[in-house]
Amino acid sequence: MLDTSFLTPAQIVAELDKYIIGQHEAKRHVAIALRNRWRRLHAPADMQKEIVPNNILMIGATGVGKTEIARRLAILADAPFVKVEASKFTEVGYVGRDVESMVRDLAEQAVSRLRQRRQEAVKAQAAQAVEDIILDALIPPLKAPASGSGGSLGFGSSGESIAADAVPGSDQELNERTRERFRQKIRNGELEDRRIEINVAQGSPSVGIMGAPGMMDEATMSGLQDMLGNMLPKKSRKRKVSVAEARKLLLDEEAAKLVDMDEVKEEAIRQAENSGIIFIDEIDKVATSGSGKSGGGPDVSRQGVQRDLLPIVEGSAVNTKYGIVNTDHILFIAAGAFHVSKPSDLIPELQGRFPIRVELQSLTKDDFYRILKDPKNALTKQYQALLTAEDVHLEFEDEALLKLAEIAFEVNSEVENIGARRLHTVMSRLLNELLFDVPDKLGAGTQLTITPQLVEERLRDMVKNRDMSQYIL
Ligand SMILES: Nc1ncnc2c1ncn2[C@@H]1O[C@H](COP(=O)(O)OP(=O)(O)O)[C@@H](O)[C@H]1O
Ligand SMILES: [Mg+2]
Repeated sequence: MLDTSFLTPAQIVAELDKYIIGQHEAKRHVAIALRNRWRRLHAPADMQKEIVPNNILMIGATGVGKTEIARRLAILADAPFVKVEASKFTEVGYVGRDVESMVRDLAEQAVSRLRQRRQEAVKAQAAQAVEDIILDALIPPLKAPASGSGGSLGFGSSGESIAADAVPGSDQELNERTRERFRQKIRNGELEDRRIEINVAQGSPSVGIMGAPGMMDEATMSGLQDMLGNMLPKKSRKRKVSVAEARKLLLDEEAAKLVDMDEVKEEAIRQAENSGIIFIDEIDKVATSGSGKSGGGPDVSRQGVQRDLLPIVEGSAVNTKYGIVNTDHILFIAAGAFHVSKPSDLIPELQGRFPIRVELQSLTKDDFYRILKDPKNALTKQYQALLTAEDVHLEFEDEALLKLAEIAFEVNSEVENIGARRLHTVMSRLLNELLFDVPDKLGAGTQLTITPQLVEERLRDMVKNRDMSQYIL
């Protein structure tokens, strides 16, 4: 359940700012859409059904941050998230998947994240169970003697107990004491290399089903596969492993036993329905540019994809192997460059389902400079982190970053505009040699400083030579 600590729109934007430079309009819109979902869940019940999500259409050239915004948003919202390319649904034949598969993928995602979390939550309990299994394998417990078969139990007077303490007790007690000693040893990690025999589950065998594509839909197919898999007896196999290995092998298994999968499925579906986000990329590729009205193969197929998308975006029930997922309140974010086609080339019904249009700005030289430097996951920080592993310190002079930004911008305008993606290619070209020389030539403790001269030296020729930059940068 969402709680009142849910981020406000301003807080959402502030969080996005940590990763994405500029694009303030887009950030504001997604922030509102996200907060609105929280608002809906706290609205009077009869209105909740009526409130439809603010699906968003992001328009912007490649590499300006469309996907990144959606991805970060999902992380912030802690929501199930999937990304699909609309264009892949136009591919007919074997590889073509039906449009509903995006909802099934969302359910799959929701279930697996929730299962992981639930398993994480019972980890301590699972570790305890694992410890018991390991202990049993090392020192098997003695069966308690059946009561009444004599032994010290029958004589339970106070006088007897003194005698029992003095003499090393029954086998049973000895066994108990040894087990406790070993339990301590296990906890102290003294027995990590000791070899023991344990039962390891083999995982249900996967059952292949042959069938011509199209004979069954995917949900039925994978549901059937799971069902057959579950019908076969779960095999477990005896294995001789070290205590350390046993712990690793058994932990997941024991955690899984402690998680109620039916509850996970139900809750995951609820999460997918109420907070799931589906990002539909390249939506422009299924828009039909006005000229193609005459009706030809590709246009028909594109329109077909739009028609298939419509019910899902409008709200419908999709059958998944975890249960039925209602798509009414899933947030859809579509994105496209719309260089050739326009949003108005989409069929009207679909346009109507994406009421919020945001244009993302092309990135400037200055944006590039900041993208190199500021985001939490900035490229410069990534390379610094990589080299820290070699105990090599990497420093970028500010002027050098400005120069890099400038070069990336130039190559974009001369060769092909791939937006901020260009920074990756330029940076990797720049650092290529250094990365090879560490640690063989540049050992631990080296201080590397990237100066504007170095950038010039490594990249300038390449930028001047258009043919070369086409291939290398
Ligand atoms: N405005 C931005 N701020 C920070 N990084 C960005 C920005 N735009 C793009 N990037 C970076 O460029 C790469 C491609 O961005 P992406 O969001 O996938 O582009 P697209 O708009 O084509 O979906 C990612 O590594 C992303 O981090
Ligand atoms: Mg993208």
